[in-house]
Amino acid sequence: MSITVLTEPGLKALAADLARELAPGAVVWLEGPLGAGKTTFVRAFAEARGCTVAATSPTYALAHRYPGRRGDSWHLDCFRLRDPEEAADLDWEELSEADVLLIEWPERAGAWAPAAHCTVRLDHDDDDTRRVEVTRC
Ligand SMILES: Nc1ncnc2c1ncn2[C@@H]1O[C@H](COP(=O)(O)OP(=O)(O)OP(=O)(O)O)[C@@H](O)[C@H]1O
Ligand SMILES: [Mg+2]
Repeated sequence: MSITVLTEPGLKALAADLARELAPGAVVWLEGPLGAGKTTFVRAFAEARGCTVAATSPTYALAHRYPGRRGDSWHLDCFRLRDPEEAADLDWEELSEADVLLIEWPERAGAWAPAAHCTVRLDHDDDDTRRVEVTRC
């Protein structure tokens, strides 16, 4: 799929579109460097699914659940995994029951990361724009 350049409102609109369209059980990989907008994407995604709790970067827990009127979104941030084997401690059974599982830094979970149905690649452009590539797998 082609790369588009989006402002923050544009990225949020894209997240809301995907939130409406993804089938239950979907896994979304969010790729891109620090500050690219992955958590911003998750926040807009969860809001579009009817979650009224603002999504933040998971701090102590790596995984957070965002209950929504249109199903629960789970946000897993693997940034702080120092080794993929640390991902063995996550509750994968619970995560596999998510309506949608969004994973930041999935590569840090190695083979533990469930296969993506969709990847969203974000890269810095200008201060207020990001290059965005969505791939259906
Ligand atoms: N076009 C844009 N899309 C998304 N975020 C943008 C955009 N322009 C500016 N920003 C800003 O960039 C920051 C992105 O932060 P965010 O926490 O979402 O990044 P992240 O990819 O989750 O980083 P990390 O890997 O550290 O978790 C926010 O402060 C947001 O307001
Ligand atoms: Mg983040």
